[in-house]
Amino acid sequence: MRQPNDLSAFWLPFTPNRHFKTAPRMLARAEGMYYYDESGRALLDACAGLWCVNAGHGRKPIAEAIARVAQDLDYAPTFQFAHPEAFALAQRIAALAPEGLDHVFFVNSGSEACDAALKVARAYFQKIGQGGRFRLIGREKGYHGVTFAGISVGGLGNNRKPYGPLLPGTDDHLLLPYDASMRFTRGEPDTPLAFADDLDKLVALHGGETIAAVIVEPMAGSAGVFPTSGEYLKRLRETCDRYGILLIFDEVITAFGRLGHAFAAERYGVVPDIVTFAKAVSNGAVPMGGIVVSNKIYDAFMGGEDWQIELFHGHTYSAHPLACAAALATLDIYRDENLFGRAEKLEPVLQDAVHELRGAPFVMDIRNVGMAAAIELEPDPAAPGRRGYEVIQRAFHDENLVVRVSGDTIALSPPLIVNESEITEIVEKIRHVLQALH
Ligand SMILES: Cc1ncc(COP(=O)(O)O)c(C=O)c1O
Repeated sequence: MRQPNDLSAFWLPFTPNRHFKTAPRMLARAEGMYYYDESGRALLDACAGLWCVNAGHGRKPIAEAIARVAQDLDYAPTFQFAHPEAFALAQRIAALAPEGLDHVFFVNSGSEACDAALKVARAYFQKIGQGGRFRLIGREKGYHGVTFAGISVGGLGNNRKPYGPLLPGTDDHLLLPYDASMRFTRGEPDTPLAFADDLDKLVALHGGETIAAVIVEPMAGSAGVFPTSGEYLKRLRETCDRYGILLIFDEVITAFGRLGHAFAAERYGVVPDIVTFAKAVSNGAVPMGGIVVSNKIYDAFMGGEDWQIELFHGHTYSAHPLACAAALATLDIYRDENLFGRAEKLEPVLQDAVHELRGAPFVMDIRNVGMAAAIELEPDPAAPGRRGYEVIQRAFHDENLVVRVSGDTIALSPPLIVNESEITEIVEKIRHVLQALH
């Protein structure tokens, strides 16, 4: 691995650059459940990269598929042309997606997937003569990536405040369906339906006929793993149906096994109109994302002259051959190793392990669902977020562990190949880190 001799040129995303460059956490290699630093030290990966490496690192079939396609078809546009693997992949994803969502539009990231979902929602209503529906409703603490649309419907202050004014028609956010009474719940809380009925208030305020879509994560991941109940999601679905509003599930984190199913929609028995995906679709090996839309939406675009472009949207790298190859190989692994079923089986193991941290220093809440868990720490009142940052550093340098934090909340989302003793090890390492903070 080439050693950088100057760290100044690279401006790292979502990172305190100046501090990082004083003691960089460099990852040089990865295999299975582990990263390796430049000295060869193994670091247990407790977060599947960034929620994306669900099949574990360094999977040979994925690397081989990428290498093969890089030689055979390095690039092909999908504006007015295409390549066979794009169709094969779309078919595979549609087969895994909720019933009645049969059409896949590819992009290159979760942010772009959210952007596409929101644009398709607005364009759909224009197509069907309801152009007055322009409002896009998000949720507090929602994370829908970093485009202007994503941060607008998103509900994380730090991601929004520096960038205003944001997208018109996105001022309203549902409440986060979580409060202090739900602390230390194992699995999904019994979410009071009043949280979903928040949507009725917005309908009363603005008129349902002005609302295009509601976008929610079935489990809010990036903000620190906030699960919700299936009943809550069903209630949202019913309200959307009553007022003709589209329901978008942002499944950039939850799709492809994180909650023990291909999509969280399946776990909760709720079918949205549009579902986003990214991250684990290609096991993180090549950037890829997309949306799967209902037949009703797709069909609405398929009117008019058949030589005319139906949707003026897309990217140079939509359905890039390398990404399609990586994703097809990834989906084979998920199927052949039954990794979604494995996640379902391991869910109680992770749950039991992580709730053992109750009572450890600074722990004020523990949440979990599927193969995701969060340990929320009391913030240092003088410096919120600093404790979380210290956790990353101590875990990396002292415990050989890669974890992710959101503010002062530690988020765990190990690759789905994790075994029981690795789950115990992750939790014990975190315990040591918390004790060292004391
Ligand atoms: C639910 C959700 N939507 C969108 C995104 C954005 O994805 P990306 O970072 O690939 O743009 C993320 C990333 O974590 C996410 O968790």
